[in-house]
Amino acid sequence: MIPDINRVEPLITAEELAVRVGELGAKISADYAGKDITLVGILKGSVPFMSDLMRAISLPTQIDFLELSSYEGGMESTGAVRLVKDMRHNIQGKHVIIVEDIVDTGHTLRYLLDMFASRGPASMKIASLLDKPEGRVDGEPLTIDYCGFTIPNKFVVGYGLDLAGYFRNIPFVGVYSPPED
Ligand code: IMP
Ligand code: MG
Repeated sequence: MIPDINRVEPLITAEELAVRVGELGAKISADYAGKDITLVGILKGSVPFMSDLMRAISLPTQIDFLELSSYEGGMESTGAVRLVKDMRHNIQGKHVIIVEDIVDTGHTLRYLLDMFASRGPASMKIASLLDKPEGRVDGEPLTIDYCGFTIPNKFVVGYGLDLAGYFRNIPFVGVYSPPED
């Protein structure tokens, strides 16, 4: 079923997104001055963020992607993260920045950090457009080095974020309210 766009209430405008992503790009460019970096986008939610962020970075930059799955189409994380598609490049000795759309429970990031640690990058940081700190379920806090916006514990869509595969193409971020039944 195609979800109803009228149930999406704007939360972060396209203009606010553009300004903040520009700031993150400038910060990354300053922090890594003199180095070259590899951005690893997590498909598919990071696509608009990755696309805007990379163009706000003024450093020698390579990009790669990998695909994970944890939601399986619903609105709650299943907890089990699955690697659907691995990256093409070897990240050994590289300065890697993982580019995510949102951190909720933190399961996805933990999975990635564990997986990448064994691949020997020179350094590894995390850029996430959104952070839902109330969604964290367990243990140690996760450090998001470059965070766009901290948001309440609501289900959001747009600018890459989806519900059952839809809404990724909305140019802003909005809160989706499911119909009551
Ligand atoms: P985590 O593993 O629970 O931290 O969830 C991370 C992934 O769940 C993100 O990369 C998103 O794909 C998805 N996700 C978490 N919260 C939302 C949301 O509010 N809307 C859409 N997708 C979400
Ligand atoms: Mg995702």
